[in-house]
Amino acid sequence: MRQFNEETLTAEVVARLKKTKNPRFREIMTSAVKHLHAFARDVKLTEEEWFEGIKFMTSVGQKCDDKRQEFILLSDVLGLSMMVVALNHKTAPGATEATVLGPFFAHGAKEYGYGADLREGATMQGEEVWVSGRVLSVDGKPIADAALDIWQAKADGIYDLQTEGEFELRGRVKANDKGEYAFKSYKPKFYSIPMDGPVGDLVRATHNNHMRPAHMHAIVSAPGYQQVITHVFVEGDPYLDGDAVFAVKNSLVGKYQKVNNAAEAKKLGLSNPFLKLEFDFRLSPDKPGARKAVTRSTSPHGGTPR
Ligand code: BEZ
Ligand code: FE
Repeated sequence: MRQFNEETLTAEVVARLKKTKNPRFREIMTSAVKHLHAFARDVKLTEEEWFEGIKFMTSVGQKCDDKRQEFILLSDVLGLSMMVVALNHKTAPGATEATVLGPFFAHGAKEYGYGADLREGATMQGEEVWVSGRVLSVDGKPIADAALDIWQAKADGIYDLQTEGEFELRGRVKANDKGEYAFKSYKPKFYSIPMDGPVGDLVRATHNNHMRPAHMHAIVSAPGYQQVITHVFVEGDPYLDGDAVFAVKNSLVGKYQKVNNAAEAKKLGLSNPFLKLEFDFRLSPDKPGARKAVTRSTSPHGGTPR
């Protein structure tokens, strides 16, 4: 076959995918070709415009290195990351909702027990907070031996991974045998997604919000349960309704409550007054053959946390 036009070309490209051995790969490629061609036809894409698109994608790739993942950021601001999360994490009713992993997860964070201080070695101070809660099954039973991978930005809105130096405000916190966890940290603050690359140029050109509402990240896992990659947001944050990466869920907004109690502050090793956040995580039972939450391919910093 030869001599294709804009009406017949798509069918021919799809036909040439027929020999693809892996059926799932064939399905994905077929759909991608159909949608890409339809998009070009829809907007009547000019050669100059397509070359601009190629230049943009090239610069996204060139911005990536072992610390910076501009493609994740692109997927995040286009809502594609949250679309993939929504498609793949239809959790049992009552289970903690999943959100994007984001580009700043790292393996190898220090392990901590109940009540540990994640501010250890922090180079910047913030409002002191006692974070506590339980890891439960969807029917409300405490889960023993759960672990929570926690990470958040420093008070200046910058993650430890964005600068040279040690890990900060991150750790793997083990819950106790009653499913209870607790740690000391600083209250998170809102921050800007990285705007010094091509994705930043795109966000500016489309006049979109580049801020993320304040949050801490958590990956909660326990044997026999589905791991959840999620966030806990801060009630009252000005950016809850315009998150640059579309990750906010009402069920994930936590209350930071002020406590003015010198004796309690002393007992917990905090200054008075301090803040308290109580947040329970609820995990769905593991399904045989269920897909594990993917952190290897979405994080440039390593494989699935376990
Ligand atoms: C984050 O929360 O760390 C994040 C998520 C998506 C894009 C940029 C940052
Ligand atoms: Fe974050």
